Amino acid sequence: MRKKVTVVGAGNVGANVALRIADQELADVVIVDIVEGIPQGKGLDILQSGPVQGYDVNIVGSNGYEETANSDIVVITAGFPRKPGMSRDDLLMANYEIVRAATEQAAKYSPNAILILVTNPLDAMCWAAQKVSGFSRNRVIGMAGVLDTARYRTFIAQELQVSVENVNAMVLGGHGDTMVPLVRLTSVSGIPLTEIMPQDRINAIVDRTRNGGAEIVKYLKTGSAYYAPSAATVEMVESILKDKKKVLPCAAMLEGEYDVNGLFVGVPVKLGSMGIEKIYELSLTAEEQAMLDKSVGAVKELIDVLQQKTSA
Ligand code: NAI
Ligand code: 2OP
Repeated sequence: MRKKVTVVGAGNVGANVALRIADQELADVVIVDIVEGIPQGKGLDILQSGPVQGYDVNIVGSNGYEETANSDIVVITAGFPRKPGMSRDDLLMANYEIVRAATEQAAKYSPNAILILVTNPLDAMCWAAQKVSGFSRNRVIGMAGVLDTARYRTFIAQELQVSVENVNAMVLGGHGDTMVPLVRLTSVSGIPLTEIMPQDRINAIVDRTRNGGAEIVKYLKTGSAYYAPSAATVEMVESILKDKKKVLPCAAMLEGEYDVNGLFVGVPVKLGSMGIEKIYELSLTAEEQAMLDKSVGAVKELIDVLQQKTSA
């Protein structure tokens, strides 16, 4: 029997997640959105690409959750994207309500699913989804680190004029301006980045990575990035469905790791059929740990607001 993935939110990210899952023939897909007609229309459109692209998966759209029953994975992209001048944090309360409702319904119909959160502010939405679903921490995962790392790798490859595939890197921390690209552990085919790129260029790339989302919002003006975000999400979906056990930076609920308790933060994890199968705890330098602490502080501020304004 084919695997089943629900994608909540048929907007820019959600529709592209559904399309990529179909293109890679990973699973049947149910797309859910509150706007009548949009998930149905996009679902049918993607389905009709099958004969040309050569995939046999089924895609349906719906405004309810009945059809999502027994999904293996539920990807939540529903919510408002960031507009120019708006921080990810401005989205907090509006998207909390959306993610809360979506998680409640998704968990009701697919109690054994793995949840992948995409909606911003990412780390806070993961926390909300975990609280609402009551799922164990291996089954609630946030997508941000794969995207942030992809941006970092792209900029390094561009600068050095090498293949992106040769750039090995990891961005930790919350999905915000305080994220932590781990320069010390970045390499190009095993060659430490610090040996082949001047420090001022590295600093510029770290800075551009931290503002990678905002750079695209500034160009698009009416929304945020979706091609790379959907690709990053589907890398996670694939690793879980195929039990590939890829080691990827994902937002995970920490229970003591990195001296963090009860918050979602981006860290290296092993993704397999059980979801997060291992959290890797790196030995960070004092400087790296300080940057991570700052990033965790930014996540905590949002959770404090959520706790004050909701009964969560
Ligand atoms: P979009 O506006 O294109 O799509 C959002 C969709 O959610 C819309 O179709 C809307 O009708 C739907 N929606 C709203 N309330 C809903 C509800 N209660 N139930 C079901 N669907 C509902 O936005 P886009 O570009 O797809 O972004 C979606 C979210 O993902 C945003 O919060 C954005 O900031 C976030 N994002 C996060 C990234 C990350 O790295 N974690 C990367 C890119 C986007
Ligand atoms: C991004 O980084 C908006 O969080 C989204 O592109």
